[in-house]
Order: sequence, then structure tokens, then C-alpha cells
Amino acid sequence: MIKLAPSILAADFARLKEEIEVVEKAGCDYIHIDVMDGHFVPNLTLGPPVLQSISKYATKPLDVHLMMTEPEKYIELFAKAGADILTVHIETCPHLHRTIQQIRNANVKAAVALNPATPLHTLECIIEELDMVLIMSVNPGFGGQKFIPSSLVKIQQLRQEIERRGLKTMIQVDGGIDLGNVESVIQAGANVIVAGSAIYNHDPVTSVQQFKQVFKNEARK
Ligand code: DX5
Ligand code: ZN
Repeated sequence: MIKLAPSILAADFARLKEEIEVVEKAGCDYIHIDVMDGHFVPNLTLGPPVLQSISKYATKPLDVHLMMTEPEKYIELFAKAGADILTVHIETCPHLHRTIQQIRNANVKAAVALNPATPLHTLECIIEELDMVLIMSVNPGFGGQKFIPSSLVKIQQLRQEIERRGLKTMIQVDGGIDLGNVESVIQAGANVIVAGSAIYNHDPVTSVQQFKQVFKNEARK
């Protein structure tokens, strides 16, 4: 089954509770939460206190994407605040194996994100430890950017590698996904789709349902 993870980066932060409830009721699978530190990426968003508030009412798993340097300093805090999945960027983790174990020890699903310029082979020695790989299809930092087409080849190659090894690792894709290109992302092998502006800049209920319909059609093929 293909999963939908609306990114609240494109939501109205002053009405976060309603914005999350609306996509949950419409049938999304995860809530994607972008944490940005102003160092690894040129933008700032939110941290553990906001996540903790969200976790009190959210009913879907919280998929937390850490776009920050030294994420290992905050793993336990984010876990305590209610993260169900923690994604760290490979570009920020010199001791990635240790960081992944740290996430696992906190009883949270562990994922690694790759920037568009980071090659797939960097995952070679860690992939078997991961619940999910996040292929960034834009340079992280902002919502509303254009999908980078070369991401499709990367997704295909990752899908092949996961099959070759007989793994169940999920492939998440994040950035510039809309109803016009989501089919190609799924056909390349992704099974967790992040969408921010394609959901919140339109009617969120209709958009979630439209995405889910595409997923159903693709599953039937
Ligand atoms: C980008 C973030 C994304 C962002 C996606 O750095 O990681 O999750 O919200 O937004 P859209 O779907 O608008 O590209
Ligand atoms: Zn994200």
C-alpha cells in the first residue's frame, strides 16, 4: 500500500490543530513534520515543544524529518515529544550507524534522507538497518519548489537494490510532488509520498482524496 504524508510546512501554523485534523479525517496515513535549524538548511521551523503539542491530538503517526546539524543531540527529545519516525540526513551524520541505533533504542522507526546531490551508494553499509529511505526531490529548506526529474532514476535504482536484498524498507519521496507527477514517482518505486503545497495550497480534503485515488489506481495496475 502506498502511503500519503501531508507536510504541515505548507499549513497555516496559527491553525495547526485544524490543519492536521482536516488531512487526518480526509484519510492521510502520516503527518510529515519538517524540522529546520537555519544551519543545515536556510530556514527555521519548529522543535520538540511544538511536536509534543501536536502529539497530544494527532491520531496518525508523526513522521519527523530532521533537517538539522548534529541531530544526535536531539533524538531522545524528539522521541519523547511523540515522533513515530525520525529521519536524519546522511549529510549531517558522520557516525550514522550510531545515530540510527540511537533512534532504534528510543523505540522510534529510523530513516535516512539523501539530498538530490548525494549518491545512493552512500547507503550501502546502512540500508539493512533502516525502516525507510527518504529521497529528496528538491533541495531541502522550502516548500513549493519544483520537482527535480533526475530523482526518478534514483528512486528506481533504490527500488531495485531493496528488491535485490529482499528488504521491506519503505521509499519516501519529498519535494515538488503534485497530482501531475505523483504517478511517475510511484511507478519509479516510491511507497510513501510527501506533499505540502499540493495539499495545503488547495482544498486539503479534495487533494488528499485525489492523491489516495491515484494510489488506488496505481495499485490496480
Ligand atoms: C522541503 C521539505 C518538504 C516540503 C515539501 O525541505 O522537506 O517536506 O514541505 O513541500 P512541497 O510538497 O510543497 O514541495
Ligand atoms: Zn520534509
